[in-house]
Amino acid sequence: MILSARGLQVRYGAIAAVRGVDIDVAEGEIVALLGANGAGKSTIARAIAGLLPFQGEIVYKDQKLRPNDAERNVRRGVVLVPEGRGILGRMTVEENLAMGIYTRADKSQAIADLKRMQERFPILGQRRHNAASLLSGGEQQLLATARALLSKPRLLLLDEPSLGLAPQATAYLFGVIAETRAEGLSVLLVEQKARQTLKVADRAYVLETGRVVASGPAQKMIEDPAVSDAFLGGPG
Ligand SMILES: Nc1ncnc2c1ncn2[C@@H]1O[C@H](COP(=O)(O)OP(=O)(O)O)[C@@H](O)[C@H]1O
Ligand SMILES: [Mg+2]
Repeated sequence: MILSARGLQVRYGAIAAVRGVDIDVAEGEIVALLGANGAGKSTIARAIAGLLPFQGEIVYKDQKLRPNDAERNVRRGVVLVPEGRGILGRMTVEENLAMGIYTRADKSQAIADLKRMQERFPILGQRRHNAASLLSGGEQQLLATARALLSKPRLLLLDEPSLGLAPQATAYLFGVIAETRAEGLSVLLVEQKARQTLKVADRAYVLETGRVVASGPAQKMIEDPAVSDAFLGGPG
């Protein structure tokens, strides 16, 4: 396992947002974290990224992660694309991409990687001098994902990348996410859009008010009527 969370608990003052959650992500796996609004998905992603205090244990590459240690986590390869993408709209597309190589020591290789990213996703090259806010929602999410990939993550945490995107833009983005697995990356994909997400994920956890209420191989969860009715809003 590249990541194992055991007995993870996170509180916001009196609110117990995450109430004893176990999650594993294997090397090269895409793991979906599904659940309705308020279930605790973002809280888990933010705790793993080192942006929140937590109780319990998060082990990444055989070492315990410390709470509130985000910058060290990024350097070790744990990279979060937050809900809302974290794009700086007034900066150019290229300046946003450049933020992805900020933490890298291998600068000349990093700059070459940035150029390659602009070729791989031509919209990011064509619009490089435009303000990022001028991109569409789908393009902004692509920019945020590309920026995260440039920091050479081993474990990519994506918090609701499909939020506000049309189904086609979501499908394209999920295709990009599937490609990253081929590059040896592990992904924790936080989503509300269960059905579309299960098509790209290997395994999934369903979260309800801070607890895991179902988990298993993605394909099995799509086909299981009990899971489908209870957690995915019925068949279809
Ligand atoms: N900064 C915060 N302060 C207080 N409560 C919060 C905060 N962020 C989230 N919560 C609460 O924690 C619970 C889980 O939220 P969140 O992790 O954002 O859920 P999700 O991402 O699944 O929608 C919710 O009840 C939410 O209201
Ligand atoms: Mg959320």
